[in-house]
Amino acid sequence: MFKVNENYLKLPGSYLFSNIGKKVRAFTEANPDKKIIRLGIGDVTLPLAPAVIDALHKATDEMAVQETFKGYSPDLGYEFLRSAIAKNDYKARGVTIALDEIFISDGAKSDSGNIGDIFDVNNKIAVCDPVYPVYVDTNVMAGRCGEYDPVTERWSNVIYMPCTKENNFAPKLPEETPDIIYLCFPNNPTGSAITKAELQKWVDYALEKGAVIIYDAAYEAYISEEDVPHTIYECEGAKRCAIELRSFSKNAGFTGTRLGFTVIPKELKSGDVMLNSLWARRHGTKFNGAPYIIQRAGEAVYSEEGKKQTKEQIAYYMNNAKVIREGLAGAGYSVSGGVNAPYIWLKTPDEMNSWQFFDYLLQEANVVGTPGSGFGPSGEGYFRLTAFGSYESTLEAIERIKRLG
Ligand code: MLT
Repeated sequence: MFKVNENYLKLPGSYLFSNIGKKVRAFTEANPDKKIIRLGIGDVTLPLAPAVIDALHKATDEMAVQETFKGYSPDLGYEFLRSAIAKNDYKARGVTIALDEIFISDGAKSDSGNIGDIFDVNNKIAVCDPVYPVYVDTNVMAGRCGEYDPVTERWSNVIYMPCTKENNFAPKLPEETPDIIYLCFPNNPTGSAITKAELQKWVDYALEKGAVIIYDAAYEAYISEEDVPHTIYECEGAKRCAIELRSFSKNAGFTGTRLGFTVIPKELKSGDVMLNSLWARRHGTKFNGAPYIIQRAGEAVYSEEGKKQTKEQIAYYMNNAKVIREGLAGAGYSVSGGVNAPYIWLKTPDEMNSWQFFDYLLQEANVVGTPGSGFGPSGEGYFRLTAFGSYESTLEAIERIKRLG
């Protein structure tokens, strides 16, 4: 008789956003007349930029013609896209990344879940608490997290790095030594950011301990402050200890179009083994490439028009972030984030726990957010709102929350 991967059975409930989706569907079915405003999952709402749409049309037409039709994409992704990335995301910031250190994928969520394939099952992971649930859940699936304690809501073999008001929602270096450190800055869910000097401390720590950092920079386009690094490779030595994950979802609205990439420098080694070679082997074996038309759309993000248009989209969302932050602060809420990230992190009022506040907001204001505790135990008593709604619905949501008193 076949056996299942029993690690899956250890996972509590469903994936956070599926859970929220179910609750909201039940509420709308019971209250069909209510106008729900969704500021829960970090999904974009603006249409793709015109430069991206033009590229999609053009590439689609190419697929209709024998001479320009494309089948499988090259393993690492098309060179036109990897060159645009190397030039705009790295060279422009004084960082040299070779084209064969960039791996195009269908998004940072997949890469952050799949990257564990190249690491030993006994490696110990360290995660921020609260954290994007994919990092922990995928390590549980791989059998790397030990056992779950429902009382502490922690896995026995995971190092949790609390991100609280006291440390400005930025983790301290862990006392227990990890093998793999997950960092996401600007941060999901708290919206916090760290300076280059602070990130350098993590790089130095990883080099000293022989740990690898998996650096999720999906929100880098939202950075507004000068001393916040856009890539971990701005830090000295990072190429010897860090993998960087990037996404087109949040900077160019590709959540439904799917495109991302991972950078693994060739200097990054475990003994003599280059992680770049392992990931190339994995990528070539398990992935057949993001679609040609989508990679052309990604290239268009780096055109002059594309840069201008996507910058306007980010400014639009960041204006929403300001509306939420200032509106809630004015109403007496304790808020953070929303300056270098499209997420606002707020303290729940009146000692409500995160899920109680979720229900209260859904029922009384018909506004959907994300309970902080869904991201980890230190998120309890907090709540996340996203800036990805329309301006009008964001304003309306804040007015409704203010009216709750
Ligand atoms: C979120 O809401 O945290 C994001 O949408 C998650 C993601 O990018 O997958």
